[in-house]
Amino acid sequence: MQKNNSPIEAKAWQKLEEHYHELAPKHLRELFAQDPQRFEKFSLHLEDMLVDLSKNRVTEETMQLLTDLAEELALPAAIEEMFRGEPINATEGRAVLHTALRNFTDESLEVAGENILEEVRSVQQQMKVFCEKLHSGAWLGYTGKPISHIVNIGIGGSDLGPQMVCEALKSYQKEDLRISFVSNVDGTDAAETLRHLDPETTLFIIASKTFTTKETITNAKTAREWFLKKAADKEHIKKHFVALSTNVEAVVEFGIAQENTFRFWDWVGGRFSLWSAIGLSIACAVGYDKFEELLKGAEAMDKHFREAPLRQNIPVQLALLSIWYTNFFGCQTHAVLPYDQYLRLLPDYLQQLMMESNGKSTDRNGKRVDYQTQPVIWGAAGTNSQHSFFQLIHQGTVLIPSDFIAPAQSHNPLGQHHALLLSNFFAQTEALMKGKTEAEVREELRSKNLGSEELEQLVPHKVFEGNKPSTSIMFKHLTPYTLGKLVAMYEHKTFVQGVIWNVYSFDQWGVELGKQLAGAIEPELLGDAKATHDSSTTGLINYYKNNR
Ligand code: F6P
Repeated sequence: MQKNNSPIEAKAWQKLEEHYHELAPKHLRELFAQDPQRFEKFSLHLEDMLVDLSKNRVTEETMQLLTDLAEELALPAAIEEMFRGEPINATEGRAVLHTALRNFTDESLEVAGENILEEVRSVQQQMKVFCEKLHSGAWLGYTGKPISHIVNIGIGGSDLGPQMVCEALKSYQKEDLRISFVSNVDGTDAAETLRHLDPETTLFIIASKTFTTKETITNAKTAREWFLKKAADKEHIKKHFVALSTNVEAVVEFGIAQENTFRFWDWVGGRFSLWSAIGLSIACAVGYDKFEELLKGAEAMDKHFREAPLRQNIPVQLALLSIWYTNFFGCQTHAVLPYDQYLRLLPDYLQQLMMESNGKSTDRNGKRVDYQTQPVIWGAAGTNSQHSFFQLIHQGTVLIPSDFIAPAQSHNPLGQHHALLLSNFFAQTEALMKGKTEAEVREELRSKNLGSEELEQLVPHKVFEGNKPSTSIMFKHLTPYTLGKLVAMYEHKTFVQGVIWNVYSFDQWGVELGKQLAGAIEPELLGDAKATHDSSTTGLINYYKNNR
């Protein structure tokens, strides 16, 4: 991957700056009025997926200039390097090949002399056999009862992805099998989950790429203790604990049988790992065939991302739009608003995906960047979010680009619910775009027979500036296949942003310092060691010690 690509030195960047000054004063209403074909021109398609970019503050010139920027910064070569398995995670010396986990072609892909696709398929086969045993009732607990509850213990990428997907595919969930997720080292998480479970019918999936993460290992030990309290004999562990990890040695040392270990590899990043063995809880929840459909949806997006011209390339265009708002409009946040209750965990999942990947201020040359990188990702399911934070998006002082996401068909077609839900989706994007002018407000208030003083007082509060950008993403139905496409779309968007910002998207050194300091504080809380930190940290530790 090229290292000297400072985006702000690119010729296209200078042109975008000039273009920004021309375009920024224009209102989206004007852009729509000028071009009746705007929706068609700014719609992108992949199979049944529709991505409508037309309510963004862009013209065709904007998208062309942004695409020129991507070309100038050698994006096509960077995409190929990732798919080919070059060690693009340079600070850890690793390839980045989550795409290999959903590669169903007959190709071979060599990493360090091994065809990794063969290894991938062998673990997939192991997962399939395990799921079949579980679902057929052939996998029995230590007292001969079938498993009725699975608890995934993991954190970050070993939790957020599988949990989000299990929630999104709840309507496909196997009956007679419940799935819970424990991630927080706060004992409440484990306690509240275990409270209602029976060790005889519970199976724990310990998910950790490194198998050294403190939170996960602590929760796993608590689960083992809880289990052994009733089961007594350590021999029974092999019927109730399986592990997903790259670190088989540590798994075995923990006491989980090697044959109960589902491997993956260091070329799978934690936040990109739901397609690997880390997805075992998903396969258990919905069945291995549905898990495979999820992978196939992602594969379709991979193919599109690798082959479609940049101007028609959905992840590329979404990433470029984000550059436009972040680096030219100065937007610092981006909202993700799924109008589908099943997708309510998508914003949480995307927070890790995007903010852990591109929340960086050092470029690939080791220099501090002098431009903004990853905006804050946040959001919640519509319509609940309309009754919470939409006020600020409509009338606040900051500009917040947003993604609205919805299926045309609901899994729960109750009465008029889905039409009502989607009328809100469409209305919100329309309102954000159009706003309401002072003249329109006056006209509306005139019919209400208000006194002129009251009317004048109200007018400024009821005006909506509009011109707030949104992208609408729709598909027919939320199936495992569509979900795979959607998630892979955001993965590739994240990758493209990182290429443009010239940062390494696949490491996460920023999470280390806190872990290191917590390791130093731990003995001060558990033993008698005296706390010697800055006055605030020492004061807080002492408050805890005096009040526990
Ligand atoms: O938060 C840092 C991190 O390393 C994430 O990138 C990762 O997903 C998470 O911790 C969990 O790591 P592991 O799967 O190794 O337990």
